[in-house]
Amino acid sequence: MLWVVPDLVNDINMSVGRRWQGLDPLLPEPTDLPEGCMAPLLATGEHGRPAGLGVCLHQHVPADTLAQTWGAAVRFVLTLRLRDPDTRVADDLLALWRDHLAGVPEAGAEDTAAVVNWPAREVTGVAALLRHGLQPIAVIAARPAGRPVPAGGADAVPGLVIRAAGPDDVDVVTEMGMAVVSYDAHFGGSIPRPATERLVRAEAQAALARRPAWIWLAELDRRPVGLTVVDSPGDSAWIAGMARPGVTVYLQIMFVRPDERGGGIGAALVRHVHGELDARGIDLTLLHYSQVNPLSAPFWNRMGYRPLWTSWEARPAAALR
Ligand SMILES: CC(C)(COP(=O)(O)OP(=O)(O)OC[C@H]1O[C@@H](n2cnc3c(N)ncnc32)[C@H](O)[C@@H]1OP(=O)(O)O)[C@@H](O)C(=O)NCCC(=O)NCCS
Repeated sequence: MLWVVPDLVNDINMSVGRRWQGLDPLLPEPTDLPEGCMAPLLATGEHGRPAGLGVCLHQHVPADTLAQTWGAAVRFVLTLRLRDPDTRVADDLLALWRDHLAGVPEAGAEDTAAVVNWPAREVTGVAALLRHGLQPIAVIAARPAGRPVPAGGADAVPGLVIRAAGPDDVDVVTEMGMAVVSYDAHFGGSIPRPATERLVRAEAQAALARRPAWIWLAELDRRPVGLTVVDSPGDSAWIAGMARPGVTVYLQIMFVRPDERGGGIGAALVRHVHGELDARGIDLTLLHYSQVNPLSAPFWNRMGYRPLWTSWEARPAAALR
């Protein structure tokens, strides 16, 4: 491993930022690299020229947070920056990272993951991620405001009523939130924990008390059949920096009861929610879906979302090769 000077970090970081802006206007402006667990990993290109950097962060996700339901308890996150589209440089950096983690004892534990968040349109480097044993687990998808909404509101489904949820709906919001956690567990998107249900309920209770509401229910004959939960702009700050500046919200939960799917309820609910978000001046809506969830990727695409980032993971972290 080589030690690098701040000017070099800025230089590579800035050129990467400019390239990404050309690839995808929804990506954020170049930002400083995070403070890692050690000096950045450095890979060189032709004539020994510095060609790429990697910064490793060790994250311990507390058991009493929902974040631990949406991933491993200990995450080793690599921020990877390549000066030019060069898969060999990505390969070298991932090999340095693997060697670094091999010397970290806790990276051998079961409930761990090695994580790389990679711009979805940055196809350079994907072959290297695969070669090192990383799998595309989740996608962050984005919908800019005003994107055409497919036809079919509540009127498209006879008897469907869509309404803002309130404090009395805590049981059904918890139940449907837990159903999404269970469904996503099939794809590695979630890891149900002993505390998950308690935390989902507590979060629902707090969110349902807020006005204006950011939670909507779809009902047939007063029976709740679908749910959409959005985090307000203030509660979405943790992810807003993954996209260009603007008023950003995070769509946290989308669910339709299994026996009611395929009839347009999901589309009607999302159409209604988009109308509300557009009216509230939201610039961008972000959400996660599991890469191999067979229902969500095509659904979100039809609803105007497209991939922005892919989260690549090796679980446990020692599976990185
Ligand atoms: C994703 C999800 C919310 C979609 O809800 P839905 O009510 O089934 O959505 P829609 O009915 O609007 O659309 C689904 C399908 O029904 C079709 N459809 C829509 N309106 C229809 C109608 N009137 N008649 C028949 N089919 C219809 C759509 O074209 C779509 O078809 P396809 O995906 O097979 O091509 C639902 O599948 C779900 O809850 N999945 C489990 C949880 C989940 O994955 N949540 C998302 C996590 S990110």
